[in-house]
Amino acid sequence: MRPGGALLALLASLLLLLLLRLLWCPNDAPAGSRLSGEESRAATHGTPAALRTLRSPATPAPRTTNSTYLNEKSLQLTEKCKNLQYGIESLSNKTKGYSEDDYLQIIASIQSCPWKRQAEEYANFRAKLASCCDAVQNFVVSQNNTPVGTNVSYEVENKKQIPIRKNIFHMFPVSQPFVGYPYNQCAVVGNGGILNKSLCGAEIDKSDFVFRCNLPPTTGDVNKDVGSKTNLVTVNPSIITLKYGNLKEKKAIFLEDIATYGDAFLLLPAFSFRANTGVSFKVYYTLRDSKARQKVLFFHPKYLKHLALFWRTKGVTAYRLSTGLMIASVAVELCENVKLYGFWPFSKTVEDTPVSHHYYDNTLPKRGFHQMPKEYSQILQLHVKGILKLQFSKCETA
Ligand SMILES: *[C@@H]1O[C@H](CO)[C@@H](O)[C@H](O)[C@H]1NC(C)=O
Ligand SMILES: *[C@@H]1O[C@H](CO)[C@@H](O)[C@H](O)[C@H]1NC(C)=O
Ligand SMILES: *[C@@H]1O[C@H](CO)[C@@H](O)[C@H](O)[C@H]1NC(C)=O
Ligand SMILES: *[C@@H]1O[C@H](CO)[C@@H](O)[C@H](O)[C@H]1NC(C)=O
Repeated sequence: MRPGGALLALLASLLLLLLLRLLWCPNDAPAGSRLSGEESRAATHGTPAALRTLRSPATPAPRTTNSTYLNEKSLQLTEKCKNLQYGIESLSNKTKGYSEDDYLQIIASIQSCPWKRQAEEYANFRAKLASCCDAVQNFVVSQNNTPVGTNVSYEVENKKQIPIRKNIFHMFPVSQPFVGYPYNQCAVVGNGGILNKSLCGAEIDKSDFVFRCNLPPTTGDVNKDVGSKTNLVTVNPSIITLKYGNLKEKKAIFLEDIATYGDAFLLLPAFSFRANTGVSFKVYYTLRDSKARQKVLFFHPKYLKHLALFWRTKGVTAYRLSTGLMIASVAVELCENVKLYGFWPFSKTVEDTPVSHHYYDNTLPKRGFHQMPKEYSQILQLHVKGILKLQFSKCETA
């Protein structure tokens, strides 16, 4: 067999070995206000098992070939892995005609290439985020960054302001509440159905800080796949309205559900749309009055605006960023190492197995993913540059 043919055969069999697991972070827009429908979430990657297969002398190929051949093969692999960045870029440059299959193909290549943290790339990217957005000081509204008398402009309805009087001011933490900053290892857990059967729970729980999106379930059977530790969980105001009846008769169920997050922060986009404000304050008062362990935080609308401008320069022109991209950006600033789990905006795995939209329901994603390609290709870029790591597949269990 020609070396090229052997390489292709090896890669093809490698693909069969790969399992994808993903997740999905829902957006915060109140029902009806979203223009672009579903947005993208983050995904994870990594596949160390597959990489090992590729390099391991345990595979038949190395035993039957000589070192000239091996060198040639690894040269081709290096070449291919170097070109990934270009491949993702040209895919995301396509304004139309992209398809899920194009993405899955490039993700298959990404998975076959080794991932290595690039400290310098990380430092550069983090510095850029710090200078545009400064999550450390500004990601949530605090008494420090928002004194009494401030008129806060809404993130999306940006002609509208809300004056910060004492009653609102007192809901804010005195200063940024992330006492352990900078965290060493952070997990950003999206809700993609790819997490189903991933066995990533133990690895996620070992992280120093775990971000989750939109009050996902973490108890029961899903536990081994998604873990149980939660340090911060976002809350889409529409879930309070739709699932918890605005905390009237379903208040007790709500308190019971959030008790599973321990003393996590609940993060709400109170100042993104005016419709979000009342319901976010209601969550605050409900937790305070019932002496719940969880604390409420509000996204700073100015931070989100600056972050959207930052991503706009990279071609993400969505009506609004997905929560997944917001949280992944925050994590890069707050953490030394960031790993994304359950970010999978596709309807199937690279092996063509259908993937449910969320790990906790069986709804398939809608076809057509709007701004997803732009966002997701940015996340893929961060992965191939070694800035963060996407866990695409099953986690290795010790
Ligand atoms: C090494 O493998 C290549 C490709 O299979 C072959 O052309 C070459 O003759 C081999 N060299 C030796 C020394 O066996
Ligand atoms: C993608 O588009 C950007 C901006 O238009 C351009 O600079 C870049 O070279 C393009 N990349 C590819 C791979 O086509
Ligand atoms: C906030 O808005 C009110 C009403 O428009 C105005 O009177 C006040 O001066 C503004 N405060 C600041 C700090 O700009
Ligand atoms: C998870 O996978 C199992 C089988 O692999 C399937 O029966 C179950 O419905 C899946 N759950 C979700 C939420 O997709």
